[in-house]
Amino acid sequence: MISTVNELLVDEYIRRVRELNAGLSRRAYVFTFGCQQNEADAERMLGMARDMGYKITDTAEDADLILINTCAIREHAELKALSMLGRFKALKRKNPELIIGVCGCMTAQPHRAELIKNDFHYVSFTTEPNMIHRIPELILGYMERRKRAFVFGADTGDIVEGVPVLRRESHKAFVSIMYGCNNFCSYCIVPYVRGRERSRCSEDIISECRTLVVSGVREITLLGQNVNSYRPDIGFAELISEIAEIEGDFIIRFMTSHPKDTSDELIEAMRKYRGKIAPYFHLPLQAGSNSVLRAMNRTYTREHYLEILKKLRAAVPDIAVSTDIIVGFPGESEQDFLDTLDVLKTAEFDMVYAFLYSAREGTRAAAMTEQVPREVKDERMSRLLALQDGISYKKNERFVGRVCRVLVDSKETREGCVVYTGRNPENKLVHFTSDYAVEIGELVNVKIEKHGAFDLIGTMEK
Ligand code: 5AD
Ligand code: SF4
Repeated sequence: MISTVNELLVDEYIRRVRELNAGLSRRAYVFTFGCQQNEADAERMLGMARDMGYKITDTAEDADLILINTCAIREHAELKALSMLGRFKALKRKNPELIIGVCGCMTAQPHRAELIKNDFHYVSFTTEPNMIHRIPELILGYMERRKRAFVFGADTGDIVEGVPVLRRESHKAFVSIMYGCNNFCSYCIVPYVRGRERSRCSEDIISECRTLVVSGVREITLLGQNVNSYRPDIGFAELISEIAEIEGDFIIRFMTSHPKDTSDELIEAMRKYRGKIAPYFHLPLQAGSNSVLRAMNRTYTREHYLEILKKLRAAVPDIAVSTDIIVGFPGESEQDFLDTLDVLKTAEFDMVYAFLYSAREGTRAAAMTEQVPREVKDERMSRLLALQDGISYKKNERFVGRVCRVLVDSKETREGCVVYTGRNPENKLVHFTSDYAVEIGELVNVKIEKHGAFDLIGTMEK
């Protein structure tokens, strides 16, 4: 559902903060941890900050407004955010007018919300991820009344459209298509902090994509915790097909998919629109043992997963596939772990993002009795990475001698030589040199000459 009332209020609060900031050359610093959804949220925070009259700065030290966008997926991410927050105490002491807001997934957990409220007195407000449109209101409350505020448990399930966005890059864009998750994988905090699934209406998404393409964007990434279960009016396969029909030189990526919702229609759309929809699929497996998958509440088996992979590779030959693996889920035996290694050998993923299991308070897995000791997790992780490095290296061989289309993301000078970096449609990192000057955001042809496990190296072809 779309809440236009809130949208009007957001504009009104933005206008009132802008009036208070008029003529004061105030600056805002936004730092984000975590996933691409958080990156997209941070772009909305930047957009609101800009419209409230703040100049954007990339150092916290000279900021009048600091917004930290936190992540809760693993303990490590939370500890990093808390430690960063600790460093801001001195800034607040120096500048009592400084406004510090903590946003994102960490603040949507009761124990973390309490911690910030009670132990971080210099934090002006917190807001959970689905409520970031309330930031202008919270800033205004703090400016006018020095009122600390904690938005917690306020999620109405609405999507607020029309929040201003400041995109960090002009050649690539994230487009959120749905928010939240209904799956309750037993290890995962996301359904608790981002709430139930809700999808934006397809017309809004398609018209946003059209505008982006007209403005010169070359790569659109459709975002959602579980994009394959997008279905407010049309399904994900139909949505992505309609976006692929938009005329223009751009490619579409999407993230993240759940195997249980990966439909034949989506695979068919990827086949039909190859070239427009990038031949790359991130399909989290999490574990290769059926008993661990059951305990994780993933609702598929390794056989089912491998079947999807087979269909994908038959429809889109040479497609690049990456996955997520959790190492050391409670009760994971040596045999379970060997089953995971076995699937990695069979599946031959291009890339594996492997994470040590981290207990998240309130999830079912955190209460499971057979937690795996840290040393065992570490040892399994090293074995997994050693195996996968060899596979990734071997998978990259196929690009040597080929010419890839590369979207250029950055350039740097190394030992007097300019090296450009970008990604090919298969999402491989490509480093290349060129006899001609190349602009960031350009699509160029690169002849691949060498490869590593994680990158390809080549020279630009005119
Ligand atoms: N511990 C470790 N990794 C996790 N992930 C999600 N929750 C946890 C957790 N509690 C991983 C999953 C998911 C990715 C985004 O993060 O692999 O796909
Ligand atoms: Fe977490 Fe599972 Fe939802 Fe992904 S599908 S966000 S892992 S609960």
